[in-house]
Amino acid sequence: MQDKIKEILGKINEPYINSGFNHQELLKKISLNGDKLYLKLGITDVNKDRNKEIKNLISAEIKKEIKEIKETEIEFVLGILSHKSHQKDMIISGVKNTIAVASGKGGVGKSTVAVNLAMALVMEGASVGLIDADIYGPSIPMMLNISKRPEVEKINGRNMLVPVEKYGLKVMSIGLLVDSNTAVVWRGPMASSALKQFMSDTDWGELDYLLFDMPPGTGDIQLTLSQTIPLTGAIIVTTPQEISLADARKGQSMFEKVNVSTVGVIENMSYFLKPDGTKEYIFGQGGGKKMHDETGIPLLGEIPINTKIREQGDMGTPIVYSMPEENESKIFRNISKNLILELNKLNLNRPENQNLEIIEEG
Ligand SMILES: Nc1ncnc2c1ncn2[C@@H]1O[C@H](COP(=O)(O)OP(=O)(O)O)[C@@H](O)[C@H]1O
Ligand SMILES: [Mg+2]
Repeated sequence: MQDKIKEILGKINEPYINSGFNHQELLKKISLNGDKLYLKLGITDVNKDRNKEIKNLISAEIKKEIKEIKETEIEFVLGILSHKSHQKDMIISGVKNTIAVASGKGGVGKSTVAVNLAMALVMEGASVGLIDADIYGPSIPMMLNISKRPEVEKINGRNMLVPVEKYGLKVMSIGLLVDSNTAVVWRGPMASSALKQFMSDTDWGELDYLLFDMPPGTGDIQLTLSQTIPLTGAIIVTTPQEISLADARKGQSMFEKVNVSTVGVIENMSYFLKPDGTKEYIFGQGGGKKMHDETGIPLLGEIPINTKIREQGDMGTPIVYSMPEENESKIFRNISKNLILELNKLNLNRPENQNLEIIEEG
């Protein structure tokens, strides 16, 4: 009967990514108790009204095709597909997706976006890790108000770092290991090896998403990252004006050269919302949209410039977590949903092992 149920589920599409519900990562549980069937299914957007119709459709199809089943209970949970190469034996094999949050230029709000996006993904129900890859200028410890040092544990005779947990997010940063004046003088190889340790010698456990808050530009850290693990994708953060956009394009083409797809663009500091409700486009208008029009890369969202975003960042309480009802928080939540969708689509259609070869350690 299991097979019959799977066959029926295969004919019904998960409506957001157009895969049958029999996909191994969406079909989470089938259990039969007498004439009652319980199904736990992954879905890209758990909270949409139209999900009700899909449930009814699944239930009706199953009852029609399998006479023994009189009653069904269907539960939808967040369904996150894996980047296929990550299921292989890799240095961070428990991680389903790795995403670089990058930009060409500094000061566009990468770290702010990375932290709030990571928190928003946690709030959607995902398990999330955040690596501060800005070895020379780590800002994640401040933005999450973490001062605790990571503990070291022995796993299979090896010393492993344990990421620090804050607000349900797992975090690792050089700023947690050495004082910030020490790391800034590091160059090339030392910085790269610190970043590698955050992957190979850190116990991340099982994660849906591991985000990397990148340093600005296209230097050795970017190269190290793309050569150490297969990245699922990059997110490019840009501000609306032309120079920043040109830098964003540089960032994107760098990832393209190492075969990493850009999953989306996020425009930050898009506008200032005036008390009368109108928008003032301080830094010009439409940079992210323009990049989308030229490249086809999805525009994941536009974040206004807002004092609360900076203040909450400075206090170590990301706005999306501390003020979930604010308009800006809703924008971040929406961006996280768009990201989940784009990554699921990407992973569904990704040919196996399309990524570059991995340079082995040692
Ligand atoms: N949308 C925004 N509104 C207001 N301030 C912002 C916004 N995005 C970022 N900032 C502020 O701008 C500064 C630089 O942001 P940061 O995230 O550190 O940039 P990056 O990581 O790209 O260097 C920080 O003080 C941050 O609080
Ligand atoms: Mg930063």
